[in-house]
Amino acid sequence: MAHVKIFDTTLRDGEQSPGVNLNRLEKLEIAKQLERFGVDVMEAGFPASSQGDFESVREIANTIKNVSVTGLARAVKSDIDTAWEALKDGTDPRLHVFLATSPIHMTYKLKKTPEEVIDTAVEMVRYAKTKFSKVEWSAEDASRSDLEFLARIIEKVIDAGATVINLPDTVGYTTPYEYGQMFQYIKQNVPNIEKADLSCHCHDDLGMALANSIAAVENGATQVEGTINGIGERAGNAALEELAVALKIRQDYYSFETGLVLNEIKRTSDLVSKLTGMHVPRNKAVVGQNAFAHESGIHQDGVLKHAQTYEIITPEMVGVKSNSLVMGKHSGKHAFKDKLKQLGYELSDEKVMEAFTEFKKLTDSKKEVTDDDLFTILTEIQTQT
Ligand code: KIV
Ligand code: ZN
Repeated sequence: MAHVKIFDTTLRDGEQSPGVNLNRLEKLEIAKQLERFGVDVMEAGFPASSQGDFESVREIANTIKNVSVTGLARAVKSDIDTAWEALKDGTDPRLHVFLATSPIHMTYKLKKTPEEVIDTAVEMVRYAKTKFSKVEWSAEDASRSDLEFLARIIEKVIDAGATVINLPDTVGYTTPYEYGQMFQYIKQNVPNIEKADLSCHCHDDLGMALANSIAAVENGATQVEGTINGIGERAGNAALEELAVALKIRQDYYSFETGLVLNEIKRTSDLVSKLTGMHVPRNKAVVGQNAFAHESGIHQDGVLKHAQTYEIITPEMVGVKSNSLVMGKHSGKHAFKDKLKQLGYELSDEKVMEAFTEFKKLTDSKKEVTDDDLFTILTEIQTQT
């Protein structure tokens, strides 16, 4: 089974979610949980972006011992110097420096020719290497870049000392096939590519961040970047908990594994959601409230007979205590009876039928019937003379 490294950017790209602003202590708390979760690299922030971020990155780098801590820098010396000051006392510091390579970014944002972009990238990676032994270089907007140009610049930044090459789908534009082909192309056309790790970094604008990340791994990426709960710029980044569980559940199909501790998923997700204020949608894969909840009578009946009829992930695997059978208008008698048992009621078949009829009437006006509602129904039925 090939190992895929996990680069978590919840504290950098994730924090770039509109409306999110984590303070120093909140960032530190998340960093400690990411360490428990077992990520290989954590991007603690963008030290040159603010004094607060600089201090957070420094504190995280000095506290976290079992994960390599990195910080983002634009391809300018002052950003690299600031990142070094923030990271230098950490156990395993690394720099993440980026420069855009797509025609639209080079022309309109950077106002540089492709040759100038190559020169800057090479010069900044060389400069970074005078301080850091590990340097990741990202070709921002790689998925909309010219492949020949991309291969040329990558060869040069590897010669300059880059140890990781990241090919981001910055605007979530690519498709799984296309993104996989880009990794194939780079592997085949960059002669020194074996000297560096290849990394993918996907955004979810078209809802394909996870599929694109997996396509990259199938085509040679050895590192995946993403965030907890998929938070991040615009529609967010690839959700790391989804990646980890997908690779585990379908290990019959994909022969890749991460070092993530799966039963820390729920705790990590809850912490990130609470501190960022980014609510996890109920139907979100793996960590949503409904991920292990069953409402329809047919499903509830199936799950009571054998959980795997409608559950491919066990709740325990991801640190959720148990599944839940939600009492609603689609629930059947079997699940209803089971629920009464759980609540401590042993009723005659006749009383169960009476309670079931009352319960069904209530579901016409209420989406979800709570335990309190059931207590009310049962108390009434049992006290009728
Ligand atoms: O999406 C992106 O291109 C980024 C880079 C800074 C790596 O987040
Ligand atoms: Zn990004």
